[in-house]
Amino acid sequence: MPPTTCGDLGVRVTRFQVVIMISPTQILIICLSLKLALDVYEYSKYQNGYTNIKTTVAAMSVAFTLYCGYYLLIRPVNIRRTLAHLGYDGLSQNQWASNERMNMIKQAMKLKKKGQMPPVFPNGWISLIESDQVKLEQVQYVSALGEHFAVFRSKNGIINILDAYCPHLGSNMAFGGSVIGNSLQCPFHGWTFSGNNGKCVKIANSCSSVIPRVSVKKWISCEENGFIFVWYHAEKEPPHWYPPKLINKNLLYRGRSEHYTNSHVQEIEENGADLSHFSLLHKDAGVGGLYMSQVLKSIWNYVGHHEWKSSWKVSQNEIHKTELEIEHTFELFNRFRVGEIIAKANQIGPGLVILNMKFSIGTISIIQVITPVEPLIQKIVQHVYCPWQLSLFAPLVLKMETIMLERDIVIWNHKTYVEKPLCTKEELTLLSYRQWFKQFYSENSPKFSFKKETMEW
Ligand code: FES
Ligand SMILES: [Fe+2]
Repeated sequence: MPPTTCGDLGVRVTRFQVVIMISPTQILIICLSLKLALDVYEYSKYQNGYTNIKTTVAAMSVAFTLYCGYYLLIRPVNIRRTLAHLGYDGLSQNQWASNERMNMIKQAMKLKKKGQMPPVFPNGWISLIESDQVKLEQVQYVSALGEHFAVFRSKNGIINILDAYCPHLGSNMAFGGSVIGNSLQCPFHGWTFSGNNGKCVKIANSCSSVIPRVSVKKWISCEENGFIFVWYHAEKEPPHWYPPKLINKNLLYRGRSEHYTNSHVQEIEENGADLSHFSLLHKDAGVGGLYMSQVLKSIWNYVGHHEWKSSWKVSQNEIHKTELEIEHTFELFNRFRVGEIIAKANQIGPGLVILNMKFSIGTISIIQVITPVEPLIQKIVQHVYCPWQLSLFAPLVLKMETIMLERDIVIWNHKTYVEKPLCTKEELTLLSYRQWFKQFYSENSPKFSFKKETMEW
């Protein structure tokens, strides 16, 4: 197995070492907890005139409770899984050999039957990076959609996206480039490109006042709901719709998840219109998903199971949207209906889904974005938001959601794309979905090509 990250605990476990990663906030919380524990200790000593084991235990318990309380109740969750974490457990006996495992995963990805796939990069708004990962006057490199982006934020907070490679001598400006005003300066010889239009506006250290008429590609971008989106269109058409604004000051951010999967971009959201898979793949209780042992499975089966009812349709008002409605209940001990949730998911364009789960005291919203990092590697990021009264519950909902997502990922990692699926009457929504998704492909949308010319490739 690759190094395991227990995100919530900030502990990284490798074969030979345990690394504790602690942030300044965590150090502050630990110090405050210890200080309080010492106060309790001193107070108790003062009261009793002597110290005893009970006092020490009480003081340590206070510190521990405070620290756990911070982790469980206050800190937003951060669930991260790389490709190596999910779906490839059967490949390697030696779970610790991460290099060997990654090589096996690459081999499995190469050998996977691809099928007759639609184009690999759809037209529309695609999230490149999360807003908080591009700080003021910073630049970040993102490789996605077969392109190379330099995403930078000017001093006044405006986001610009330019092609990352400098036309002068090919330096990648996102590595060491400087944000100057609303422009990006290349670190190699100082050519500077405007964030407004990509034109070269200055050449550092040049005595010539003539600025060459060169430019880099300026990408249309927008920043909404904590994500930075680029407008990608194979025919270079301008945007005719925008991601809606969802987040307001009454909603609290309660955590994120990040996953990678080896599949075509369409397979991920198509899953919502595949209504019949809910009642099998997402039925079992328990965390282990597809890799659960039979013993564990039978224990969980005794505890209960998930029940799903769902419907899917294209939005009547806006053609680039779909509406999925899911009714979920958990049948405790297979008898008592608990955990009733009505969820509505809107897919907006090819790479954005907004999932709203209604409870009697408020709504928890999960924003999901999908980025085609490579033709067959998708990055899925989810952010969870809620009103304050649901702030303890929302991280748990995100964790439950990722348990279900990870079951899908195991399937996606290994499945082939079936161009003409054999659908039952109940599964016709899947075909409607594919018909709907065609609007995001155009004549020049990049296609996946796979050449097998020899036995070695
Ligand atoms: S390579 Fe960018 S300025 Fe020379
Ligand atoms: Fe699913």
